[in-house]
Amino acid sequence: MDAAEAVKTLLSPSATHDPVPAYAALRKYGPVLPVADGYYFVSGYAAVDGILRDAAMETYDIKRLDSRWDDWRDNKALELFADSMLRSNPPDHTRMRRLAAGVFTARRVGTLRAVIEEQVAEALDGLDGTADLMSELCYPLPIGVITALLGVPAEDRGQFRRLAEALTAVLEVRWTPEDEAKAHEAAVELEDYFIHLVAQKQREPGDDLTTALAKGGELSGRELLGNLMLLLVAGFETTTNLLGNGIVLLLDHGATPPQSCVEEILRFDSPVQLTERYATHAVQIGNVQIEEGAELVLLLGAANRDPERFEKADEFWPERPNNTPLSFGAGAHYCLGAPLARLEAQIALPALFRRFPELRLTGKPVRRPRMNLRGWDALPVTLGTPE
Ligand code: HEM
Repeated sequence: MDAAEAVKTLLSPSATHDPVPAYAALRKYGPVLPVADGYYFVSGYAAVDGILRDAAMETYDIKRLDSRWDDWRDNKALELFADSMLRSNPPDHTRMRRLAAGVFTARRVGTLRAVIEEQVAEALDGLDGTADLMSELCYPLPIGVITALLGVPAEDRGQFRRLAEALTAVLEVRWTPEDEAKAHEAAVELEDYFIHLVAQKQREPGDDLTTALAKGGELSGRELLGNLMLLLVAGFETTTNLLGNGIVLLLDHGATPPQSCVEEILRFDSPVQLTERYATHAVQIGNVQIEEGAELVLLLGAANRDPERFEKADEFWPERPNNTPLSFGAGAHYCLGAPLARLEAQIALPALFRRFPELRLTGKPVRRPRMNLRGWDALPVTLGTPE
């Protein structure tokens, strides 16, 4: 595969199946590859890490979206993300992030251990004979945990899988007009849901993140909605994919999961494959000169397979030493939910394999038709005799 073919593959639906051959092909041309005028793909670990930590490299904020597209505000999904910290730069990012980090503390995550253990036990108790582990475990657990954290009533949980699936299409590098229309509709529905939830929490405050973020008036109304949407959607789609990707990898490799295997699952089959930045100043990376205003696609999934950083990079090695993948990003936007996502996987995966030591796939799992948010749609298994 040459560079042009690798780029085409990564932008086409075939990358959904397996982007790794295209990553390997890109790497032959160096860690940073010019793809078009002012547009680069970055696949090397050191280069991706450096760009994520460089304050001159900004995320696609409102100002940037305005200069790129005339009518982006017609799409409510793009608008909600643009109002969140994920798509903000300092000083707005610093203010929102400080506020969210102040309420989403290690103590609060720690108190969730019991909630996670209880929800895992409940999901496993419900399994018998055969099952689709995506719909029986990998979706319900992260949805249950993040909605508990946000103070969303349990009876409202049923709609979030469908809404998040539609909404996150705009986090891909390319999407179709149909994806865009569905993302817009889902965002309108979700925004409406959060407007009502915030009003209810203002009347009856609870010990939850929605109440904590809404009080104090430090966020504008739009920022509050954007960040609540981000926490909900980022809080489960990605964790769902970590669990699903992990189950398939552990079954493929016949491994019983030690806790440390979660880092290796994150590295080997990253639930988020890429993110984007633009250069506010000209910079030199290796021997490539990046001009001011250039757009960079940072291939986290490729960086995680960089042989210059990882020994036997294409081997799944559950207890790999010195394992620091870039799956949660790095720098100012480093994933706020990383400790929570790790905790869920560290509890759920060993519990599943302990309870069902004969667990087997009964058919080929079905990949989600997404390149960036990489996961499975269905995981049909037979559970065998429980322990
Ligand atoms: C940011 C991945 C779970 C909330 C990010 C970023 C990545 C990421 C790569 C940085 C994006 C960038 O720099 O452009 C993941 C993965 C997860 C996961 C792989 C699960 C395996 C969660 C959870 C939550 C969460 C459970 C919340 C409960 C956030 C938030 C940000 C973020 C709020 C934005 C931080 C900022 O902009 O400062 N995540 N995430 N994530 N994540 Fe996660």
